[in-house]
Amino acid sequence: MKVGILSGGGDAPGINAVIRAVVRKAIQEYGFETVGIRDGWRGLVEGEFIPLDLNATSGLLPRGGSVLGTSRTNPFKSEDGPQRVLNNVKKHNIDGVVAIGGDDTLGVAYKLYEMGLKCVGVPKTIDNDLAGTDYTFGFQTAVSIACEALDKLHTTAEAHHRVIILEVMGRYTGWIAMWAGIAGGADAILIPEEPFDVKETCKIIRKRQKRGRNFSLIVVAEGAKPKDSEEIVYSSRVDEFGHARLGGVGYHLGKEIERLCEDIETRVVVLGHLQRGGSPIPFDRVIATRYGLAAIDLVHEGKYGHMVALRGNDFISVPLKGVIGRRKTVDSKLIEVAKVFFG
Ligand code: F6P
Repeated sequence: MKVGILSGGGDAPGINAVIRAVVRKAIQEYGFETVGIRDGWRGLVEGEFIPLDLNATSGLLPRGGSVLGTSRTNPFKSEDGPQRVLNNVKKHNIDGVVAIGGDDTLGVAYKLYEMGLKCVGVPKTIDNDLAGTDYTFGFQTAVSIACEALDKLHTTAEAHHRVIILEVMGRYTGWIAMWAGIAGGADAILIPEEPFDVKETCKIIRKRQKRGRNFSLIVVAEGAKPKDSEEIVYSSRVDEFGHARLGGVGYHLGKEIERLCEDIETRVVVLGHLQRGGSPIPFDRVIATRYGLAAIDLVHEGKYGHMVALRGNDFISVPLKGVIGRRKTVDSKLIEVAKVFFG
């Protein structure tokens, strides 16, 4: 049996650890052959592969990025894309595919599964917004990086009596903002789940000033929306799945705070792709490894059309049909925890 592995969408620290685990168990325990598919679905549309055996995956556990490469290619964007995928799978004798990806990649996996592709999914995103699973690998690494940034910003904000805004990733949900903000002691956390009013943020800053705290740290998720204006995007050009590039809400917020409170000085830090680069933290290495092992078990069981999922301390499988297109938003209990420390 020959198993192809691909990673699609934005990278997340831990992809290589998943690949390593899939390959290790596939070869050693099940006697399968493994092959890497280059750059996500693009590799199956174009028929581009990378040899993948035990030696090729040695040393991958701590490595960031994806040795297979990734892309946001959507085979359904071209008329013959899906058929080309199926033809290449047949031509290269691939019996099963492990697709590591977020909602877009897994959405494609499900559609192709319905057309006959034998495919299982591994949920992947630093945003932690995929339905059906508690935590995606890479999320806690991103949170650690954002939290470390907040710790550094804290000291300089305090010394200069400034308001510093940290803009973090997360696309349409505020998981990274919420976790990093709670861990880093943010004075306000703005997330897409609750459109924000700058006047309320100013009130928080003033409240702190009244008790002698002449600085504030604000975390804003890139997808947070001001109540009274449009969503802020870096570029309205969309990718093959229809997503605009986010970024810039931090600057909007900083300027608005200075406009409403003339005596306050703001600075803005956009953390960007620093949150995705580099080595996964141990937690992510462990869950990525367990995701990979669970995925190859699904292939062995022939449970195609399913995704592996983390529930509590267990890895289970869930039908892709039930999770794609559903977003896991930040739960209200976590929002309440954060709010205790605002102001
Ligand atoms: O989905 C992961 C993510 O990092 C989002 O948080 C962010 O909006 C997006 O990808 C950025 O994508 P790109 O790498 O294409 O700039």
